[in-house]
Amino acid sequence: MSVIDEVLAEFKAKFGDEGDIRSYFAPGRVNLIGEHTDYNGGHVFPCALSMGNYAVARKRDDNIVRWYNMTYPKDGVKEADITKLAPNDNGVWYDYQQGVIWAFEKNGFHVPAGYDMVMLSDMPAGSGLSASASIEEVAAVILRDLFDIDMTMVDCAVMGQYSENEYNGMNCGIMDQFASAMGKKDHAIFLDTATMEYEYVPLNLKDEKIVITNSKVKHALAGSAYNDRRRESEEALADLQTVLDIKTLGDLDEETYLANESVIKNEINRKRAHHAVFENQRTLKAVEALRADDIEAFGKLMNESHISLRDDYEVSCPELDILAAEAWKLPYVVGSRMTGGGFGGCTVSIVKADKADAFKAAITKAYENETGKTPEFYIADAADGARRL
Ligand code: GLA
Repeated sequence: MSVIDEVLAEFKAKFGDEGDIRSYFAPGRVNLIGEHTDYNGGHVFPCALSMGNYAVARKRDDNIVRWYNMTYPKDGVKEADITKLAPNDNGVWYDYQQGVIWAFEKNGFHVPAGYDMVMLSDMPAGSGLSASASIEEVAAVILRDLFDIDMTMVDCAVMGQYSENEYNGMNCGIMDQFASAMGKKDHAIFLDTATMEYEYVPLNLKDEKIVITNSKVKHALAGSAYNDRRRESEEALADLQTVLDIKTLGDLDEETYLANESVIKNEINRKRAHHAVFENQRTLKAVEALRADDIEAFGKLMNESHISLRDDYEVSCPELDILAAEAWKLPYVVGSRMTGGGFGGCTVSIVKADKADAFKAAITKAYENETGKTPEFYIADAADGARRL
């Protein structure tokens, strides 16, 4: 049985099979390069994955939602009144769903009633592949479609970010929700987060595969550390603005930054800004390299990105550093770096296609040796974004 058929069967068993029952999907994402740039006015280069959250829903004619998540059966059926939602930072799956309803209402996208829903994820949660953004975007497409709300898919992405910032207390940028909402099969999304202009870049790797390696490490404090990084970057920007006419760190090239970095008073903030500026420039170069079919150059920039995230932005962790360093040793690895917010989660590596199995075996052996943990692997094939099925 396909995943969505399983969800449909569960929906009918829980909530009955009458009425207009609809199916939806929203993917997770992997970011190829451009990390911690999306709240710094920089560029990102993610693609949507073929894994994510599936949902089956039917609208109601009162203000009640009844939700069941097959991924977390112990939570049972969650019931709530959509006119009585209140922000919290619990970060449970239904908080992400509720936050989106709340965000729609706050932004003039009226949600006239509740809905019954069953969902199921086929992706790992808490692994830096944006399972939460995928829950937000599946919620957004459900609302948009069930209640025929006049809005674009970019609006859906923005509502996901708004809800995560204002309802769930996580100051994330727009990358994850944008990738989940706007993904396109066989393409990565080159997004300028300062202007929200974007372009789809074909990912037609002929001889390579994109391999995601899950460290299986989850960092409990990732949320607060993330919000700290954001604040430190903003403080650095404020110092730079005393001498430069810029709106974001993304406005700076390397030379201008280096000529002015001494005005950043705090040394930690200086390291953060250094990363944000150089990572944004690396992203521009990486996209150019990919367009020129220079995958080796792309890989080198990925490696540099990891080092900068490790040393300057300080969002890596020993396990991610081991995964990246072990990958760099392998002659058939083109590039490897941590992906997503960090403090655990996954690396993304570009590997010669015929060596994908050798890669998995080598990394598993080294990682088990050094950490006692067994990594998991996923082959990333860039896929379409959130949609009704
Ligand atoms: C998390 C956030 C994104 C982005 C990345 C780091 O995934 O949700 O907005 O900032 O971290 O690039």
